[in-house]
Amino acid sequence: MKQIESIDDIRAAVRALRSENKTIAFVPTMGALHQGHISLIRKAHKHADAVVVSIYVNPEQFGPNEDFDSYPRRLQADLNVCEKEKVDLVFTPDDAVMYSSSVNYFSIEIEELGDHMDGASRPGFFEGIVLVVNKLFNIIKPDIAVFGQKDIQQFQILSRMVKEFNHSVELVMAPIARANDGLALSSRNAYLSEEERTIAPALYRALRYVEKQILDGVDKPELLLSHQKDELEAKGFQNDYLNVYSLDRLAPVSQLKEGNRYILAGAAYLGKTRLIDNIIIDF
Ligand code: PAJ
Repeated sequence: MKQIESIDDIRAAVRALRSENKTIAFVPTMGALHQGHISLIRKAHKHADAVVVSIYVNPEQFGPNEDFDSYPRRLQADLNVCEKEKVDLVFTPDDAVMYSSSVNYFSIEIEELGDHMDGASRPGFFEGIVLVVNKLFNIIKPDIAVFGQKDIQQFQILSRMVKEFNHSVELVMAPIARANDGLALSSRNAYLSEEERTIAPALYRALRYVEKQILDGVDKPELLLSHQKDELEAKGFQNDYLNVYSLDRLAPVSQLKEGNRYILAGAAYLGKTRLIDNIIIDF
């Protein structure tokens, strides 16, 4: 395994793999790797001959009052994980490498898909993600890139980006890796106190409860959702959103129709930790 920091060197290393006729799968991450990231790396191995992982905490996707400074950084442990998972190349650029020009002549704007869910609560978040993933795709030029369902809005927006900007990469979505009690794994779970950690799985339980009611035939889930939000507040969460969205456009839906696919998604703060989770529903 090679750890590489510069764009020229990673391009040369990817070229070397290509010259051996190897296909390339890419897993972009911000590090603090956990079993969720590992499941993506394993999926990447199934789809290609060589796997490239990037570890880069992208400042452009953090708002001014968000956790950029405190975001967990554990490079050595992450490199050990990558080594163990037989990753071929780990790209670890710094800000000077990723954002070398001091003046930006272009900016990203996202229509529609960024209007709701995390896009509504975190201005600039998906613009920052589209910017960095666009750069990373241009640097690595992978055949396949693997992303998690955990961040389903990110997946849908990046799928659209690939289509509209004609990147020649196929995106693969990996299911949400969870702890035994159902909590979706996340690098941010490290912020939870012991007590908060015991409360945290209630978000997924609320989603499961709503999912069951919907699959049992509730096609107007508004009351059900507002009741679950109250329950979460009572447990100590501060809700951001809990709603059903259309899977393709990520717009809120109040009346579900048979034969459609939806995403039931929730985001809530527990103390200072923001938790997100979702379930895809085939109605
Ligand atoms: P990060 O939060 O590190 O996540 C990297 C990838 O791991 C994403 O595709 C995310 O959806 C996936 N992931 C995280 N937790 C998961 C879980 N419990 N189960 C399955 N997959 C999970 O997402 C980002 O970084 C950044 O926005 C990035 C794409 C790297 C751009 O900066």
